[in-house]
Amino acid sequence: MKDSHERTIDYMRISITDRCNLRCKYCTPEDLPSISHDEIMRFEDILTIARLAGRLGICKFKVTGGEPFVRKGCLSFLKALKELPDTKQVTLTTNGVYLKEHLKELKALGINGVNISLDTLHPDTFHQITGRPDFDQVMDAILTCQASGIRTKVNTVLLKGINDHEFWNLLKLAQDYPIDVRFIEIMPIGYGRQYQGYDRNALLPLLASKYPDYHFSTKTHGNGPAIYVSIPGFLGSIGFIDAIHGKFCHQCNRVRLTSDGMLKLCLYYNNGINLKKMLREQASEKQLLSAMQEAIFHKPSEHQFYHSALEGSEELRKMSQIGG
Ligand code: 5AD
Ligand code: SF4
Repeated sequence: MKDSHERTIDYMRISITDRCNLRCKYCTPEDLPSISHDEIMRFEDILTIARLAGRLGICKFKVTGGEPFVRKGCLSFLKALKELPDTKQVTLTTNGVYLKEHLKELKALGINGVNISLDTLHPDTFHQITGRPDFDQVMDAILTCQASGIRTKVNTVLLKGINDHEFWNLLKLAQDYPIDVRFIEIMPIGYGRQYQGYDRNALLPLLASKYPDYHFSTKTHGNGPAIYVSIPGFLGSIGFIDAIHGKFCHQCNRVRLTSDGMLKLCLYYNNGINLKKMLREQASEKQLLSAMQEAIFHKPSEHQFYHSALEGSEELRKMSQIGG
């Protein structure tokens, strides 16, 4: 459907859990109280919302967390999501630690792509950033995933003084494999506020200094706002996602469903509609549908990460609670 700013909204990010097995510095560095069993959306309810979203023209879904695989039943959920009448695409974002053991089933259910978060190619730096020694497992999963023919992307957040020296190494991943490597600008959300990152304006000149033959890629690579460049001889592309400095709100196509059942219209704002509450109060499908339609229609025009004028409406949740 179109919102009041004439944007076509066809993409929903669904966070199925706020729990994660890693403790990334900029996301969930310590054990946080997670959403209780009672407060988490049941898979059945998420599927109801996704089916209704489908009727509104939202036909592409990204399943996120926390880490989706820490929730039992994740695979059956993905399968059911994929089988909804209006679904055209289901993709997954994962930290990759439990990915390999699920690849066969993911392939069998027809997953349309997997994004794996990886900020370094060094086991020690990995441990330092994520608090866990799981590098080898993740790397193995990434390579097996792309080898199995599933469209594979790597998401990297470069942080000043922490993993910025890994830029060249991570580029090599796209040289050697048909993997898109995307550099995501750190967003000032939760613990992310404590770090300084890089946007495209900083990284592109760096890339150009070594690969002057690069060119902007015209093919679309997904639903996201990434800008891609191709480098001759590279099997994969390099993407840049600048949520803050390369504001792409005018072409935003997405809404989010949090694991506690809020339909969030914009990453920046803490408001949205409480669909879980409506479901628990036995709202009819008609009521749910019209509440969703109304909320999506009034999706905010843009984020306000630059301004503090709207103090109080800014999102205070952590990234793992929203789902990225
Ligand atoms: N800013 C940008 N990206 C973030 N992620 C987690 N927190 C932030 C943040 N504050 C990323 C993870 C992962 C994706 C799901 O979100 O690195 O790749
Ligand atoms: Fe987990 Fe991803 Fe957050 Fe790291 S960034 S703690 S892998 S949700």
